[in-house]
Amino acid sequence: MDIKSVKAQIDSDIDKINSLEALEAFSVKYLGRKGVIAELTSQIPSLAAEQRPDAGRDINSLKNQLKDLIDSHRAILSRQASFQKPRSVDITLPGTIQDIGNKHPLTQVMDEICGIFVSLGFKLFEGPEIETEYNNFQALNIPLNHPSCDPFDTFYLDTGFAAKDTDNTEKKQQKPKANQRLLLRSHTSPGQIRVMKKYKPPVAAIVPGKVYRPDATDASHSFMFHQVEGFLVDKDVKFSDLKGVLEEFSKIMFGADTKMRFRPHFFPFTEPSAEVDISCIICGGEGKSLAKTCSVCKGKGWLEILGCGMIHPNVFKAVGYSDGKFTGFAFGMGVERITMLKYGIDDIRIFFENDLRFLKQF
Ligand code: PHE
Repeated sequence: MDIKSVKAQIDSDIDKINSLEALEAFSVKYLGRKGVIAELTSQIPSLAAEQRPDAGRDINSLKNQLKDLIDSHRAILSRQASFQKPRSVDITLPGTIQDIGNKHPLTQVMDEICGIFVSLGFKLFEGPEIETEYNNFQALNIPLNHPSCDPFDTFYLDTGFAAKDTDNTEKKQQKPKANQRLLLRSHTSPGQIRVMKKYKPPVAAIVPGKVYRPDATDASHSFMFHQVEGFLVDKDVKFSDLKGVLEEFSKIMFGADTKMRFRPHFFPFTEPSAEVDISCIICGGEGKSLAKTCSVCKGKGWLEILGCGMIHPNVFKAVGYSDGKFTGFAFGMGVERITMLKYGIDDIRIFFENDLRFLKQF
């Protein structure tokens, strides 16, 4: 047996191999303990002494070539085998349904509210949840002796750093000045202050976000909830403009038949001020639904949805609109309340329990 004829044999054998089993048999035939290579090796001692080193080297290189050949064939045959495996696919089975997440109902309603005002030309801003006491109260004409400035009515922070500004630049102060104590904003109205300080009229903006009040949690109160603030400042802005904008909003949000009423109210940062009710979206203002007292409006026929008014001159003074040329209106609404009215939800806590049985319904 010589190397040349072995090589020829290998070439003709390998051409015939078409399965992994055949490849294994080939491997044993050549590389096995009693295989062809072993036999060639056993013949070396019978060669002339000067031929032995060359013969040894040739056999070794043939052995390595054989190993590479077998490896590459094994890779090809395994790939082929994986494609040829019969697959039992039952095309009548239902497909795998992927769970697709969706936005939280509050986010959906907040997006809807913001979308309506953006379509009316309002620009969207966000203010920080950590506010200065000044922006949250005094700039909004709420005096320091007002009960809502009381630490029991507001979450104050025990830190010396000032909040992020609307442009996201952090203004560090080691010692907060008077009025510069930090707190979790109790309404989105400080958003008015931040935007007005930065932009001159005409300006129309909405500021959505979270607000915090240390209310005991029950079916209609939560220590954290969401508001959307809106305001517009220009020359000759009148209360009728406010009415027009809110009426447009409520018709798009709650339906074209929705009626609105303004009740006089008091807010320190608006004058005159009002609370706005819409006709009950469940009973249509009748106070009764299916001959029973309507459970959503409690028989009143009206639902309170927001607070509003004409921006107080002291607020303009605080932001530097002091030349008396401008007037404006502002409003603020609770997102949880509107969502509860819209979907007939009677407990605010369900929004924050992360119960998929509830969240999946939206
Ligand atoms: N900030 C008020 C609140 O939280 C709502 C409001 C905003 C009222 C703007 C009037 C104008 O109750």
